[in-house]
Amino acid sequence: MSDSAAKAETELTWVPKASGIAREAGARLREFLAAGVETEYKGDVDLVTVADRTVEKLIRTRLGEAFPDHGIYGEEGTRERLDHEFRWYVDPLDGTTNFAHGVPQFCVSMGLEQRPAGLAPDQDGTLVAGVIYDPMRDEMYSAERGRGALLNGKPMRVSATPVLAESLVATGFPSRKRHDSPNIHFYQEFTLRSHGVRRAGSAALDLAYVACGRYEGFWEFHLNPWDTAAGILLIEEAGGRVTDFAGNKVRLDSREVLASNGLIHNELVGLFSDMFAGRNLSPIPTPAEFAASRTARAAAAQ
Ligand code: IPD
Ligand code: CA
Ligand code: CA
Repeated sequence: MSDSAAKAETELTWVPKASGIAREAGARLREFLAAGVETEYKGDVDLVTVADRTVEKLIRTRLGEAFPDHGIYGEEGTRERLDHEFRWYVDPLDGTTNFAHGVPQFCVSMGLEQRPAGLAPDQDGTLVAGVIYDPMRDEMYSAERGRGALLNGKPMRVSATPVLAESLVATGFPSRKRHDSPNIHFYQEFTLRSHGVRRAGSAALDLAYVACGRYEGFWEFHLNPWDTAAGILLIEEAGGRVTDFAGNKVRLDSREVLASNGLIHNELVGLFSDMFAGRNLSPIPTPAEFAASRTARAAAAQ
């Protein structure tokens, strides 16, 4: 990290302590990965490990020391001081399925919301800080509202690619109620209309990759605030946009998230709108149709 970049990070209000906590949490995840952990099931394919729980406890303790007045809302059950002005949304290990299989694509995600007094429980406050840490690449993504976004202390920006056809985009699939999700249709359609769709298994890192310009866009159904709070702020501060699939303001409890570099956002919203209305879908053969035409081709060649 250069001196000027380090200065930029230390001048921030919450990021210096939060990134230190995320780094410590990430180091624990690396140790757990090296030692190997047993996998338990929360649902039929919803996995959890001792690493998720231990690292959430560590983050809860460290946040309590660093910001004793702040609330904490963690994926593994932490619910503390939720009536206070500031609230951290914590995912101690985003990408548990990768982690459980030894795939080095996962992160720690911590987003801070400011909730003015009198805000109704179902209303969103303002996201004011976020850190996402990839412990396997030692990449720290951070942002505070109005102060820009940083990757390892250096300013980062979304990409300048103007069209979906030249974009690399990403998505993920829910681990619960998989048979209710239509996302495979969106996966197919976006694959045919872009440079490709990545499904890397960590929504928070996917959002961080949009923020730093590696991906042009990301969408997913059924995420939770601990997956998205930090990433939303990173993207907004890096010059991008995050909405629901209709282009409306995203909410922390929104069951749909559409993120982009801003430039391709209207095109993405248009595609979602067309697809939900059953329009403009690219035809592709079913496996049975493909097999039949393959057999017909082989017969014609004899
Ligand atoms: C999951 C990851 C994954 C996404 C799932 C999330 P977890 O979080 O972000 O990429 O597709 O919807 O639940 O369970 O590994 O923290
Ligand atoms: Ca998660
Ligand atoms: Ca998690």
